[in-house]
Formats: sequence, C-alpha cells, structure tokens
Amino acid sequence: MEQKEMVVVVDFGGQYNQLIARRVRENNVYCEVYPYNKALEKIKGLQPKGIIFTGGPASVYEENAPKMEAEVFELGIPVLGMCYGMQFMAHTLGGHVTSAETREFGKTPTRVDVSSPLFKGLSEEEVVWMSHVDYVAKVPEGFKIVAHTKDCPVAAMQNEERRLYAMQYHAEVLHTEHGKEMLHNFLYEVCGCTGQWTMANYAKTAIKEIRNTVGDGKVLLALSGGVDSSVAAALISKAVGDQLTCIFVDHGLMRKNEGDEVEAAFKGSGMHFIRVDAEERFLTKLAGLEDPEAKRKAIGEEFIRVFEDEGRKIGSVDYLAQGTIYPDVIESGTGEAEVIKSHHNVGGLPAVVDFKGLIEPLRNLFKDEVRQLGAELGLADYLVWRQPFPGPGLAIRVMGEVTKDKLDVLRDADYIFRDEIAKAGLDRSINQYFAVLTSTRTVGVMGDFRTYDYTLALRGVTTTDFMTADWARIPYDVLDTISRRIVNEVNHINRIVYDITSKPPATIEWE
Ligand code: XMP
Repeated sequence: MEQKEMVVVVDFGGQYNQLIARRVRENNVYCEVYPYNKALEKIKGLQPKGIIFTGGPASVYEENAPKMEAEVFELGIPVLGMCYGMQFMAHTLGGHVTSAETREFGKTPTRVDVSSPLFKGLSEEEVVWMSHVDYVAKVPEGFKIVAHTKDCPVAAMQNEERRLYAMQYHAEVLHTEHGKEMLHNFLYEVCGCTGQWTMANYAKTAIKEIRNTVGDGKVLLALSGGVDSSVAAALISKAVGDQLTCIFVDHGLMRKNEGDEVEAAFKGSGMHFIRVDAEERFLTKLAGLEDPEAKRKAIGEEFIRVFEDEGRKIGSVDYLAQGTIYPDVIESGTGEAEVIKSHHNVGGLPAVVDFKGLIEPLRNLFKDEVRQLGAELGLADYLVWRQPFPGPGLAIRVMGEVTKDKLDVLRDADYIFRDEIAKAGLDRSINQYFAVLTSTRTVGVMGDFRTYDYTLALRGVTTTDFMTADWARIPYDVLDTISRRIVNEVNHINRIVYDITSKPPATIEWE
C-alpha cells in the first residue's frame, strides 16, 4: 500500500513491540514492524519519516545481543530508541552502558528537560514506567541528557542536530502518564508527521487498490461471521460489488441467532452471499465423538468437504480473499518464528477452486483498527464488536458428545449470559465470555421435585492476546441475575458455576 508518511519500528525482541506500533498508529501515523536483522534494508526501501527501536531482554554486552548496522544512524532519518533500543544506540555511538545492582522497576518520578522536543508541553516532573537492569552511564559525544531519575542518570538523551533521541523507560505503556504525548512529540515535532493514518483514509485507498487488482475478475471469500472476515467482506464488496462471492458455512454450531445475523448483515449488500446450511452434515460427523481433538478434527475436515462441494459449483475464480491481520504477519525480532497459535480460524482454501491470486486487504491492520474500519464501513455493532468465537463453535463448549438437544440448551443459556453481560455494560471490558454445558449432572430441587440435571459453567476472561488471560471479576449481583434467569428459563440446567481459573494453568475454552 502506498503510504505518504510512515515510521518503521525496529523490533529488538521486546514484549511491547506490537504495543509500540499500535501507539504510533493511535497517533494517526502508519508504521510497520521489522526485526532488527532485516530492518536496514526495509528502511532504505521505504524511506520512513522516523525509526523507533523497541526494548528487548538482552544486554548489549551479551555475545548474541541483537544489533543492527550502525549505518541506521547515518541516514538522516530521526531515530527514537526505547529501553534496550536506547542502550543499543548509546553503546553503538560510543557512550557507556553499565549494569545496575538492582533492577529499576515500576512507576518512577522523573525530572525532564521541557526544552527537549520530546517533552514539549509536559511538566518538569513526569511519572514514567521503568523496567531495566542495564543503563546508560555516559552518553555518546554530541548527546545531551534530557531526563533523569533518582537511580537512573540518563532516563532520556538526545542529539538534536542528528535527530537521535532515546528513552530508558517505556513510553508505550499507560503507566507512563504522558507516554502518548511523548510519542506524539517524537512523531510530530521531530519527524514532522502530519497524521494521515485514519481508517477513513485507509478505506478509500484500500477500495481503490482492490479495484485495481481485481479489475473485472471474480473474488471468493470464506466468511465465518467473525470480525476479520466480516470486515474483509464489507470492504471488498464496497470495492467490487457483485464480483465478490462469500460462502458462509453454517455448521449448526453457532450461538443463538448468529447464523441469521450474519445472513441479515450481508444478504442484499450487493455481493453474492451463499449460506450453506450444513448442520446435519456436521452433527452426523460428530455423533459418538467425545474427545475434544477428535471433534475438532472432524469439524475441520467436514468444513473442507463442504467448501469443496460449494467450490465445485463455482469452478474457478480469479482471487481468493482472506481476513489475515497484521499480528499474524509480523515476524518476531528474536529471529525465531512467532509463537504459533494452537488454533487457526477455520476457513481454509477450497482446494478444488482454481485461482490466480490472494487478496488480504486487512494484512496491515491491528485488530482494533479492523474494528474501526468495520464501523467506518457501516457494519453493525454486533459484528464489529463480536468477541472471538472458535472455529469449531459450540461443539467444544458441549463437553463430550455433541447432540442437537444439548446444543439448544447451551445456546439458550449462553444467550442469557451474553444478554445480561451487555445489560450490565460489561460486554466490551470482558474480552471473551461464554457458557459451557458440562457433562456433570447433579441433584437439585425445584418446587417439590428432585431434579437430576446438567451443571452449566460460565466463563469470562480479560486478555489482550488470548495467549494468557485472567478470569473476569463479574460483579456478584450480575452473576446472581444470570444464574436465576438461566435456571428459570432454560430446561435441564439446575446448577451454575463460575470458572475462576486464569490461563495458564487453564485454557480459555474448556476443551
Ligand atoms: P484456549 O482455549 O486455547 O483459547 O485458551 C484461546 C483462544 O482461541 C480460541 N480457540 C479456538 N479458535 N479454533 C479456533 O478457531 C479452535 O479450535 C479453538 N480453540 C480455542 C478460544 O476461543 C480463545 O479465543
């Protein structure tokens, strides 16, 4: 995509590399992340307005410490080093980095020089978030110290003439109270950015680009109803209208009303929308299966079969579209492959469809940007804010064997749970929440009768990356309302428990 102004984030293996990139984009400046050992070539090609070095776990004195070519400082492009990035800058340019006896960690009061462009508009005493052992003891020649703390003689340094800046602390985390302003200052005061990156602009450019690529060709997209594929569908259909065909496989394992919602959102939007009602096919394959992985495998295989059957009807298209997003594309700065997620969204390429190319119009976007773009394109809130939903759907939320009856019980209970969470205004702060129908039956009493029915588990987690998660502290009175409603309104559930384990050691899903 042709960008008028951009920044390159050089990844030195820090855990906050993607967060830095998101913060830059929140400041309306486009950026891309590259590993330190490939960055120079990219920078030369892209000619960005600025360069940001991330932190990283290494010490510059370690044998295999990540280092990039010193030439990066000679390109005349402004550089901002953060944490390890600052130490690398200082070390490479002739300063002195040394190891502290104790780690400086947490929110730290810092004296800053407000005449530095980095601190324009801020006060002389700022709170920043530190997390380091090594520190810069002596700045390189030509550099000036522009911030210090009680324990850290160089909390920030600059060489204004060469436009090289660095901070020991993490401006990207919210604990640095004016971190956003400091990054803003680097981008606007130092790099001269003007803030062209908005989803409205992106939509315009992307639509034009899709039209150019596709011409009068045909595009096929496997639509799951999740945020990414829904936004991709909306964008591509805006660009090429009825040249787009979307196949939506309804495997009968969706939440209540979900299949109809997806259909309502896309039918009549100009594209060819095919909903395949495959509930029976999937339930037949699932009959008798209890093991979670066996269920996943059966569902994955059946998906491919269904696509193949539909694909045969279509025969050939020019482009296959996918809702790949930026976090799936970024290569890690440690030089190793990104941690492979154990789950991928179902929606593989139908092997029987011939196509010449792939289009991935969300490839450069973070999840929050995908949601903004969806809103920009006029997609309904319930699609834009949909929580992640596993490809195998409710089949892995009914413990053990899956039957239509159990799915219906779960769907009703899950619907009430979601409804009450939304009513309590918690639907955007809890990142994923759902009900699980366990295979445990317990004794209860309803009216004068003994019951022997299923235990339902409720799960709610807060997380940023779904690799680790904390259980959500849903207020007791909200849980109480949910519990009462479910046992009153849904048959075959007489006991409800709330899952209070984090990930790890548990996973988010129960199977
Ligand atoms: P776990 O349970 O591994 O889940 O902590 C992490 C995230 O992945 C989702 N998930 C899946 N997504 N196919 C998917 O497309 C799957 O088989 C699958 N299993 C789990 C889960 O909902 C959570 O968001």
